[in-house]
Amino acid sequence: MVVRAALLPVTLLLCLALAGSAGAGRTADGFYELKNKKGDFSIKVTNWGATLVSVLVPDCKGDLTDVVLGYDTVAAYAKGAAAGSTIGRVANRIANARFVLDGRTYRLLRNDGNNTIHGGPRGFNKVIWTVKEYVHDGDSPYITFYYRSFDGEQGFPGYLDVYVTYQLSDPYDLSIHMNATATSKATPVNLVNHAYWNLAGHGSGDVLEHELQMFASRYTPVDGYMIPTGQVAPVAGTKYDFLTPTPVGANMEIVPGGGGGYDINFAVDGQQNAMRPVARVQDPDSGRALELWANQPGVQLYTANWLSNDKGKGGKVYGQYGALCLETQAYPDAVNHPDFPSSTVRPGEVYKHDMVFKFSH
Ligand SMILES: *[C@@H]1O[C@H](CO)[C@@H](O)[C@H](O)[C@H]1NC(C)=O
Ligand SMILES: *[C@@H]1O[C@H](CO)[C@@H](O)[C@H](O)[C@H]1NC(C)=O
Repeated sequence: MVVRAALLPVTLLLCLALAGSAGAGRTADGFYELKNKKGDFSIKVTNWGATLVSVLVPDCKGDLTDVVLGYDTVAAYAKGAAAGSTIGRVANRIANARFVLDGRTYRLLRNDGNNTIHGGPRGFNKVIWTVKEYVHDGDSPYITFYYRSFDGEQGFPGYLDVYVTYQLSDPYDLSIHMNATATSKATPVNLVNHAYWNLAGHGSGDVLEHELQMFASRYTPVDGYMIPTGQVAPVAGTKYDFLTPTPVGANMEIVPGGGGGYDINFAVDGQQNAMRPVARVQDPDSGRALELWANQPGVQLYTANWLSNDKGKGGKVYGQYGALCLETQAYPDAVNHPDFPSSTVRPGEVYKHDMVFKFSH
C-alpha cells in the first residue's frame, strides 16, 4: 500500500536517531548491520521506524545483490515511502478513521481519504525506536528494537510496548519477530513489515516476470475505498489465483502512471496462529527465490503500483511495479468486522507476529 510523503518537523528527531558513536557493526551511514559467518548474507537496519534498509543475498554464481528497495539516509526515510519499515499501531486501513471497542468510540487521524492507513500520519514507521540488544555477527546475529506507544497516540487507546527483532540464521533465513503488550487498555494491533522485494535487485526494473505462488485460496474483496466488504471469497477463477506459480503480471491490470496492479489481502490457508507457508517468489533470470512463512491470518499483496521514478539507494531509480510487498497481517479493518479474526489485544495478552524470509538460489 501507499504511504504518501508527509512533511514532518523531523530535524530534531533525525539528530536523535543518528546520535551515538559508530560501534562495531555500525556503518558510516548510521545503519546497523547483521552479517552471517560466511559473509555472503547480510542486512542493514535503522532504528528510524525499525526499518529494514538492505538485504544482500547471493545468486547461484555467488554474486551478492540487494533485493529490497530503500534509501541512503534516515532523512530520506523520514520524507519517503514506508519501504522496509515496521508499520503500526494498525497497518492497512481502518474505515472512516473510527472504531468502537468495549462500547467506546475512538476517532483516529485521517490520512487516506476518510480512512486511516498505516497507523495514521505519524505511525510507527515515523518514530525513533530504542536499540535494546545488538549482536552483529556470530551464528545468529540479531538486533532488537523497542518502542513504547503512548495512550492516545494517533487516536489509539492505551499504552503499547512493542519489540521487533531482526535475526539471520543459516543458510539464508531472515526472521522478524514482533510482539506487543497493551499495558493499560484494550487496543487493535496489526504490526507489519513493509519490505519492497525485487529478487533481480532493487532498481532493476519491474517484477512482472517474477513467479509468485500464494498459499491462500481465499481473499477479502474491497469496496471503492479499499475497505473489505466483509466477504471472504475464493480466488479460483479470479486474477487473485496464485495457487500455482504464476508470473505476477500475467493477469494483472496495468495502468501506466499510477494504480493498477495488486493491493489486496489474502486469507492464508492453514491453522491460525501457526507458522505456515504464505508465499513463494522466484526471479526466473537469476533463480533467486524467497519463501515466506508467518503466523498471521492474512497477507497483503502490493505491487508498488504508485512508485514513479523514486530516487532510491545508490542512485537507483524505482519505477511502477518495481517491487512486490508481501505484508503478513490481520485482515484490513478487522476492528470493524466482528466476523474477521480479531485484532484486539487486551491487557495481559501478548500479540506475537513471527515471519521468516527463506532465500535460496
Ligand atoms: C468522506 O465522507 C463524506 C461523508 O460521507 C463524503 O461526502 C465524502 O465524499 C468522503 N470523502 C472521501 C474522499 O471519500
Ligand atoms: C518480546 O520480545 C522481547 C525481545 O525479544 C522479549 O525480551 C520479550 O520477553 C518479549 N515479550 C513477550 C511478552 O513475549
